[in-house]
Amino acid sequence: MKQRTVYCGEVTTSDIGKQIILNGWVQRRRDHGGLIFVDLRDRTGVVQTVIDPQVAPSAHEVAETVRSEYVLEITGEVRRRPEGTENPNLPTGEVEVAVSEIEILNTAKTPPFPIADDINVDETLRLTYRYLDLRRPEMQRKIFLRHRIVKLIRDFMDGRGFIEVETPILIKSTPEGARDYLVPCRIYPGTFYALPQSPQQLKQLLMVAGFEKYFQIAKCFRDEESRADRQPEFTQLDLEMSFVKQEDVFELMDDLHADIIEKLSNKRLKFPKPFPRLTYNEVMRRFGIDKPDLRFGMELYDITDIAAKTNFQVFKGTAESGGEVKGIALPGCAGYSRTEIDDLTQFAKTFGAKGLVTIALTEDGVKSSIAKFLTEDQMSAILERAEAKTGDLLAIVADQPAVVANVLGRMRADMGKKLGMTDKDEVAFCWVVDFPLVEWKAEENRWDAMHHPFTSPHEDDIQYLDTDPARVRAWCYDMVCNGFELGSGSIRIHRRDIQQKVFELMSYSEEDAQARFGHMLEAFEYGAPPHGGFATGLDRTVTLLTDDENIREVMAYPKAASGYDPMTKAPSTVDPAQLEELHIALRLDEDIEE
Ligand code: AMO
Repeated sequence: MKQRTVYCGEVTTSDIGKQIILNGWVQRRRDHGGLIFVDLRDRTGVVQTVIDPQVAPSAHEVAETVRSEYVLEITGEVRRRPEGTENPNLPTGEVEVAVSEIEILNTAKTPPFPIADDINVDETLRLTYRYLDLRRPEMQRKIFLRHRIVKLIRDFMDGRGFIEVETPILIKSTPEGARDYLVPCRIYPGTFYALPQSPQQLKQLLMVAGFEKYFQIAKCFRDEESRADRQPEFTQLDLEMSFVKQEDVFELMDDLHADIIEKLSNKRLKFPKPFPRLTYNEVMRRFGIDKPDLRFGMELYDITDIAAKTNFQVFKGTAESGGEVKGIALPGCAGYSRTEIDDLTQFAKTFGAKGLVTIALTEDGVKSSIAKFLTEDQMSAILERAEAKTGDLLAIVADQPAVVANVLGRMRADMGKKLGMTDKDEVAFCWVVDFPLVEWKAEENRWDAMHHPFTSPHEDDIQYLDTDPARVRAWCYDMVCNGFELGSGSIRIHRRDIQQKVFELMSYSEEDAQARFGHMLEAFEYGAPPHGGFATGLDRTVTLLTDDENIREVMAYPKAASGYDPMTKAPSTVDPAQLEELHIALRLDEDIEE
């Protein structure tokens, strides 16, 4: 094999007259009954080569046998394409290579789908042949971009004095709210390692160790249902800092994310730095969701006070029983048909509402089934509160606050997209702060951490830990972007007594806390500095730049939605001898007798 002298995508008019060697794959072969054209592709792009039987008879003979995806070495001279045959859509479109020699380095079967952009094939097939899927220029661009993002992050963090420390994959379980993947330990029969849901405890212990500024591009593992933005195995930019307040974390991350957008994309930042900081209560009130898309307005408006005075029983009853009546104004939807309104109502019901009230502000006035229950003043008060304009359709939900927020929050996000209010070239970062420390888990009858149990309560609220836990705010924050959670972090507890108190609140018995987190509690007794940190989902950061809906699109080897890998066929059964060595006996459901 002769090695290339130039990449296919980089042959330019300045190479005209030069002898070159190319290595690559056959994108396309066209036989013009004399001349054969072979478009050769490598990771940089495609260049056209021409094989003339008069000039290079033996190369022509070889060219007659080549097929798509054959691997070739081509030698030839660069020349300008004949006038009128240039391809302005191709960076190499002004030139072609007049071939003198071809060597077939390998043949290829016909791929199960075209190696091209914009293919429309079943994802399982793509994942089964991921190495071919990744050969497609579109996928190569994404994986290259991912590399550039990681490189930028590493350089940025290094520039700010952070060091990257690898933490182990075989660890003791760290709770992040998902199920652990367990790895049986051969040496200690009956014991298991857990794969890290995140390096949370280990990075905190690096702070106790005095490293002060840590980061890692870290693999995390969570046995949870896959979703568009969730994979069982994913990557975080994970970081931790000592002697900081949350504002220090925000400034650092504002700078990093502004850099990523400005240097690696053509998108615009909606808000300049510092990115807006909004409290949890405020976003829930205004957007009904803790990860609002701030690219558009369409905020929730509260009409509970007006509703309470009407004769419409649903409104009045809800207001009187401590519920809320809130709505959103959907621009341009006043002309919605019966079916369209039914669809909206169904949407609301799917997320827990009992029904949906609509008021259309059309050119011919107000149209609503509840108009007859409202005085004219009440109707105008609602329209005014909603800042309704002609053409708007008001969608109103009356229910308990959690239901109202859930339904309207989702409806706002969904309709924002449908109504074209989400400009894909715009990036709206914000911080959501002051989350509650704990939430009530009714099924388990206990308080649980809203973030994780190492999050510090606000000093002013520690007094409520015993009396009114729901009221305790946490030094906990999310970075939100275009309607999804990009990252999450907190200022941590660094004192044993407070950590123990928080474990108690979450109903960990003393023995349980000791057994699971004894090493943390002990470490806090050896001069643990105040510290805090953050982690972003790297896969999510990449999709932000590639405009993909699903993080699978930016991972080289993701799992299918079911957690299965159709390429290697993992997970798979193992050899009985391996199980024996691990002291594991399988008892599958079908073996278990009732
Ligand atoms: P958290 O659990 O919120 O926090 O995770 C941080 C970020 O990781 C990403 N993420 C995921 N991405 C893809 N697939 C998943 N299954 C998945 N789960 C989470 C999200 C999320 O915002 N140790 C804490 C961070 C800290 O407190 O410093 C943690 O892991 O983008």
